[in-house]
Order: sequence, then structure tokens, then C-alpha cells
Amino acid sequence: MTDITSQTQAALAAIGAATSLETLEEQRLDALGKKGWVSLALKTLGGMSPEERTAAAPAIQSARAAIADALDIRKAALEAAELEARLARETLDLTLPAAASPKGSVHPVSQVMDELAEIFADLGFAVATGPEIEDDWHNFTALNMDETHPARAMHDTFYFPDKTSDGKDILLRTHTSPVQIRSMLDQGAPIRIIAPGRVYRSDSDATHTPMFHQVEGLVIDRDIHLGHLKWTLETFFKAFFEREDIVLRLRPSYFPFTEPSVEVDVGYSTEGGRRVVGGHGDAPGHAWMEIGGSGMVNARVLEFAGVDPAEYQGFAFGLGIDRIAMLKYGMNDLRAFFDGDGRWLAHYGFSPFDQPTLSAGVGAKA
Ligand code: DAH
Repeated sequence: MTDITSQTQAALAAIGAATSLETLEEQRLDALGKKGWVSLALKTLGGMSPEERTAAAPAIQSARAAIADALDIRKAALEAAELEARLARETLDLTLPAAASPKGSVHPVSQVMDELAEIFADLGFAVATGPEIEDDWHNFTALNMDETHPARAMHDTFYFPDKTSDGKDILLRTHTSPVQIRSMLDQGAPIRIIAPGRVYRSDSDATHTPMFHQVEGLVIDRDIHLGHLKWTLETFFKAFFEREDIVLRLRPSYFPFTEPSVEVDVGYSTEGGRRVVGGHGDAPGHAWMEIGGSGMVNARVLEFAGVDPAEYQGFAFGLGIDRIAMLKYGMNDLRAFFDGDGRWLAHYGFSPFDQPTLSAGVGAKA
């Protein structure tokens, strides 16, 4: 009896002094494990006479209960202490700067796309998108270029070996114009959208890359005419180049999807070997530069896109984004746009924090 009392006291002292969960577990096994002394003492009860058992059992049972309680309490204390220690150890100093010098910058093409969206949004245009992997119906047929149309050959199209389930050729879109068709089919008329994005042609030299960027514009409503087109482009270029002396010249041209069709030229001068947009192209020291195609949307295109040409008409335009980015930011080699050279980007790139806004200036350079 005294034996159990002293053994229990020794065990409770050891449990109270345990400094880790591992030593606590050793204490548990020592007393309550299968071969622990409490378990063995409990087993001896079976071989006792009823009287002996009645006398011996309470002391063993209470020793077991006291040790089990002590183990629970010590375990909870040790776990709490461990959590405290971890919380104290694992600190995160949120006041440290993210990096000594941020490395990323926004590519001029992305910057110009954001500028375009900002300016056109102010004129009431939404941004529309379409797939870069297109079918020939959206890219050509619905734009009034049927299978035999010579303009198809001029597009240097990248074709995929597969066809759509209904037998159409699959290709990389050669222009953003198919987004006109998709937007009209989706939304009907009236409509006012721009569609910036990547386009692809099998063409590569100093001024052509197999992938480049265009922005499509489309306005369909009642009573739309070429004057609206000219005003829209003029207003856009004034905001984009941040100068009032933008002069546009619309030159008769041909596109299958517009009738009439015009090519858009902008007046510029050359200063220090650099082209600077502004002024009348026929003025001394000035010339005209082509910046895009446009026209009144061909009635057949409206029909293909499910819009009634007796009720609606509108204009469309397509501009080369890379070209206007080069003009605005003074870059002269298109191929450098797609080299992924960190030094070029560090020089021509923009701060991600420099979001173009009309109030702060769409071209604010970081
Ligand atoms: N899709 C033409 C191209 O890539 C550009 C173009 C011309 C777009 C006239 C238009 C347009 O919307 O009206 O060559």
C-alpha cells in the first residue's frame, strides 16, 4: 500500500517535471502502458480473494486516475507552451520592402492596349475579344471573302491540319476583324466595340513579324456615316498622341468587308531622324503615313452577322498596335518587341503602377 502511494507520488512528480511530449509519453508508458507498473498492479487483483481485492483495489484505481489526470494536464500545458514558442519564433516582418529594386515592367504593347481601352471607353466603346484560333468562316467567309477570294491569298494564313466538326478550316486569325462577326452575332445592333489582340501571318522581315497586334473598331447603329468614322479616329489619335494638331487623310481603297473602303493616313514630320506625328501631311517638311484601314461595313457582312442592313449601318476600322506604339514611344525596330530582352524592356517598359487614365494622361511615362 505504502509502496503504491510512494510510487504514485514519484510518478506525479516526474510527470509534473516533464519538459517535452516525448518524456511525458515515457512516463505514461512507465505507469499506464501494457507493462506499466499500474497495469501490472491491476492485473494482480484478479488473483486475490474478494476481501483482499476490496482492500487493495481502491488505492490502485485512484493511483491510475491521478496519473491519467496528471498526464492530461501536463500534456495540455506542454502543447500550449510549444504553440507559444512557435508563434514567437515564426514572425513575419510585413514592414520589409518586397524587393530592393522591382524588376518587372509592362511591355509597350500592353501599355498601348491599356491606353486604347481607356480612350475608347471614354467614347462609349466596350472591349470585345475573340479566339486566336479561328475558323475560316469567321476569319474570311463572313467578312465577304469566300473560298476563291484573292484577298485570302494575301493574308499568308497559318492553317491547322484539322478541321472543325462541320468541316471548316481551322487557322490562326489573320486579323481582328472576325471579332466584328462574333460580336454582332452575340449582341446584335446597335453596337460599339473595340477588339485589341494578337494576329498571325506567315511573314517575317524588318517590318513584319509572324505575330503582331491589331485593334479592331466597330460601330453599328442607325444613321452612321463616314463623318462619324473620321471624327472618332481623329478624337482617338488626339488623345493617344496627346496633341491637338492631328490631321487625318482618308484615301479611297478596297477591303472586301467595307464599302466604301478607305485607308487612313496621318500627317507627320521628321525631327532628328525620328517620325513625329502631327501637322498636315502636305505642309513643308511633312508627309503622310498609313496607319490603318477602315470603311463602312459592307451590307453582306451585316447579313452574315445577322444584322438587318435595311435598318442598320456602321463603320469599322483596323489599326496596327505595334506601329502606333513605335510611333508614340520612339522605337524603330519591330522585332525587338518580341525578343524578350530584359535590357530592352527595362528601357522601354512601363511601371505597373503607371496605369493610363484620361485625367492623369494616357501616356504618362514612369
Ligand atoms: N482587317 C484588315 C487587315 O488586317 C484591316 C481592316 C481594314 C480592318 C478595314 C477593318 C477595316 O475593320 O474596316 O488588313
